[in-house]
Amino acid sequence: MKATDEFLAPPALSVPRYLEETYWWAYVRPQAVQVFEREWLVHLILFNNYGRLRDAALAEMGDTVHGRTLQVACVYGDLTPRLRQRLAPDARLDVLDILPVQLDNLARKLPPDERVALLHGDSSALAGDDACYDQVLLFFLLHEQPEAVRRSTLAEALRVVRPGGKVVIVDYHRPVAWHPLRPLMRLVFSRLEPFAMDLWRHGVEAFLPPAPAPMGKQTYFGGLYQKLVLTR
Ligand SMILES: C[S@@+](CC[C@H](N)C(=O)[O-])C[C@H]1O[C@@H](n2cnc3c(N)ncnc32)[C@H](O)[C@@H]1O
Repeated sequence: MKATDEFLAPPALSVPRYLEETYWWAYVRPQAVQVFEREWLVHLILFNNYGRLRDAALAEMGDTVHGRTLQVACVYGDLTPRLRQRLAPDARLDVLDILPVQLDNLARKLPPDERVALLHGDSSALAGDDACYDQVLLFFLLHEQPEAVRRSTLAEALRVVRPGGKVVIVDYHRPVAWHPLRPLMRLVFSRLEPFAMDLWRHGVEAFLPPAPAPMGKQTYFGGLYQKLVLTR
């Protein structure tokens, strides 16, 4: 699969400041892809919970995925290849990211497939029409965004999903008080992921637009991770 110019919008999109300043080492530099696109490292970063969280997200999308799906932001590991394998013959998957280097990396992980499109775009200002997707997936994106961007990303995800459709979110969550990894995660967040503590201080609902969306939440690994399903 190739992320060709055909999929890319005009190069008007610049790299957001928070990505350049905070996450240059994880996503922006081409060397980041070489370092992080390793199965064992993806599993290690999530304390061996990657498979469980990936499968929880996929189960929510369905054994066979129908209709139009939007995955907002690329992720390291095999989430997207596995999502592609579940697509019904007439389904469609769009994966959007603001970094061409991430889209190119994803393209290398996917075989040619007319049902899949890789889109250069900003999660906080999606190009799609209202209600044009059946489901939207956000996998470990929200904790990396400053609050204003996170709010816009959620509002946009809810805007582009059809009434009755799902927005599936997997991300960090406030762990239980006795969680042995609390001190380590606090340190990691304070040094490397400054916006992540927002998801310890508040539920995702704190960042949603006013109109209520029915919500189902499940936590994992002593509450350090969550899966949230919003139904529009
Ligand atoms: C989904 S998050 C983190 C995923 C997780 N740490 C992993 O890779 O397994 C990382 C991706 O989000 C993308 N991203 C961050 N801000 C974005 C935005 N405003 N619009 C689109 N993509 C964005 C980054 O370019 C990067 O590819």
